[in-house]
Amino acid sequence: MPDARTLIFHLSDIHFGLENDRALDWVKNEIAMRRPDAVAITGDITMRARTREFGAATEWIRSLEAPITLEVGNHDLPYFNLIERFVTPYARFRGVESMVEKELQLPGLAIVPLKTTVRAQPRFNWSKGWITSKALAKTLRAIDAMPPGTRALVTAHHPLREVGTAGTALTRNGSNALAELAKRPVAAVLSGHVHDAFDIVEQTANGPVRMIGAGTLSQRIRSTPPSFNEIVWDGANLAVTVRNLSELPTEAMQIDDVPEDAMPPRKPGDPVAPANAVPLVDPPVH
Ligand SMILES: [Fe+2]
Ligand SMILES: [Fe+2]
Repeated sequence: MPDARTLIFHLSDIHFGLENDRALDWVKNEIAMRRPDAVAITGDITMRARTREFGAATEWIRSLEAPITLEVGNHDLPYFNLIERFVTPYARFRGVESMVEKELQLPGLAIVPLKTTVRAQPRFNWSKGWITSKALAKTLRAIDAMPPGTRALVTAHHPLREVGTAGTALTRNGSNALAELAKRPVAAVLSGHVHDAFDIVEQTANGPVRMIGAGTLSQRIRSTPPSFNEIVWDGANLAVTVRNLSELPTEAMQIDDVPEDAMPPRKPGDPVAPANAVPLVDPPVH
């Protein structure tokens, strides 16, 4: 019998420039083996939006064997070149342009992006989230245009409200956006930015909204190891599993510097081992 379940991998905050190669090799391999129906990357694909960081990010993302949608994170807008930041902020995404803020249709479920990253803000810290009226209207229009019976999985970079993690999002207009989303058939809002995973339900004046956050795949970890979320949609419910790099043996558990002539301690009366004796240790696990 065919598997009616839809599998979505939710990745975030890869931060090329300070990426974690081991985490990226693991995720790429998981995608090749498990063949998810979609991969949602919720922003911060680079560290400082440098050209070489975008080059590496583009190459890795394009090598993934799955339909992909990609959000723009606050780290992905030109940082050193303010003219470019204002005039052509997305120019460096050209290698993955077709994936940026892309809607994806899945059986009974639509991935609908919501932009939370802006070029500038009337406050000192431009890294925080801001949902403009225009961005919210665009997302709500897309949800309202879904075929009847479809649920929306909204993808954003910043969590729409504080989620109790070490990192903060302080998203302007986030509460209003949540209240509008609560009126609609939204299965969950996926986000990144805070580098720790979470799965919570936010109450609004119009009802509850589920918010799911993915951790980071970079070296910029906060409270938890590198991770991504595996989301299964069975047609009615979403089940989320946080896949964590600590599932794999850590380097501290690997023995890779045993000297070639390593020997177990000799006891009186033991025969002398031959010169080509194999050390009594397990081979390193990779
Ligand atoms: Fe980030
Ligand atoms: Fe961010």
